[in-house]
Amino acid sequence: MESINTTVDQQQQQTEEQEQQQIVSIPEPMSPITKLGGWEFYKTVLKSPKKVIAPMVDHTYLAFRMLCRKYGADLVYTPMFHSKNFATCKVYRKESFSTCPEDRPLVVQFCGNEAEWVVKAAKFVEDECDAIDLNLGCPQQIAKRGNYGAFLLEKPEIFLPIVRELHKNIKVPIFCKIRLLPDINDTIKLALSLQEAGCQLLTIHGRTKEQKGQHAGIANWEAIKIIREKLSIPVFANGSVVLYKDIEPCLEATGAQGVMSAEGILANPSMFSGLDLPITQIAKEYIDMCLVYHTETYICRSHLFKMLRSLFDYHVDLREKMGKIHTFEGFRDLITELEVRIESGIQPEKMLTNKQKRELKEKEREDELKRQKMDTTEIITTTTTDDKPNTTVTETPTTATTTATVST
Ligand SMILES: Cc1cc2nc3c(=O)[nH]c(=O)nc-3n(C[C@H](O)[C@H](O)[C@H](O)COP(=O)(O)O)c2cc1C
Repeated sequence: MESINTTVDQQQQQTEEQEQQQIVSIPEPMSPITKLGGWEFYKTVLKSPKKVIAPMVDHTYLAFRMLCRKYGADLVYTPMFHSKNFATCKVYRKESFSTCPEDRPLVVQFCGNEAEWVVKAAKFVEDECDAIDLNLGCPQQIAKRGNYGAFLLEKPEIFLPIVRELHKNIKVPIFCKIRLLPDINDTIKLALSLQEAGCQLLTIHGRTKEQKGQHAGIANWEAIKIIREKLSIPVFANGSVVLYKDIEPCLEATGAQGVMSAEGILANPSMFSGLDLPITQIAKEYIDMCLVYHTETYICRSHLFKMLRSLFDYHVDLREKMGKIHTFEGFRDLITELEVRIESGIQPEKMLTNKQKRELKEKEREDELKRQKMDTTEIITTTTTDDKPNTTVTETPTTATTTATVST
């Protein structure tokens, strides 16, 4: 804890230095709406968050957000929502976004390539969140086809008007989340242009859009540091913060105000607390949250697979059983069965080799991709512009999911 405090002090000093810098170098973008500037907002409204839950499609819904808040998350992002779908389809909005007074501070993330739709989408949630984030980091094929996410990084003619219009028309501050471009100078230019357009906080994922899936590799914290030093707004560093012990080194290496984590939090939602709790206990708490915050069972199951992955690598039969369960009660019983086995030292029936584990992870990823591809097609082809979906979209729970997928 002591070393974390030291880092907090260093951060405070850096924060103050950056604030000074902001006074001399950053022209405040013109906005008819009065809102707090980057640093003031960061400190007074967000309360200087250090531990941030990443936006995650299909995952950072209300129940999971509340669990993460209980275990040390200072700030939480929603999954990415497709702005045009969100702006035009009431069913999509209802199924994908819900919140409650305790679900703060909250950032809602959108993707899109037209200011009109992103602003319209943001209008629906501006009273229920603390900031809007524009996704400029999704590297998946679906984002390529839809022309959003990381595929806009080199298209300032598209993303700058979106940020400007959001800044001008939305009550809450606008954030952006980017990936690195191959050339660091280009990334610096990009970051500065976002700042000038009105972006009040930037998350930098320290990987390029080519670094995904098996080729993700380790995030480049040094690049984050170099970019952060040129900026006057707060920065979150994202990438390769998997364990509690990664937090401090990441803050030190990048000088960022906070760290954002995705995969590490999926595996252990209590990671930010630094507590060493049995993952089965956390998994059961998540099921309780799902019941309180009305979560679909397929969303719950997807989280449980990720939390229990390391145990399922040994108890392969229980993994298979989990795939066939469709009730919260069933999930709970299965976890109890797992706990009993662990406590009584029952030997696993089978154990996966590393190769099998890799193959399984790959297959899970492919299945997820396939499902999301189907969901997206459905939303896009069935949505009308008057809040009414045409046909099947209302009937399929999976249509609540959005258009990106893992590692966006
Ligand atoms: C399941 C999953 C879903 C994701 N969905 C989103 C998303 O909706 N928006 C986004 O900006 N990034 C998304 N990402 C990327 C993460 O926010 C994060 O940038 C990336 O995983 C790197 O962080 P990590 O090294 O801590 O995992 C997703 C990642 C995962 C694993």
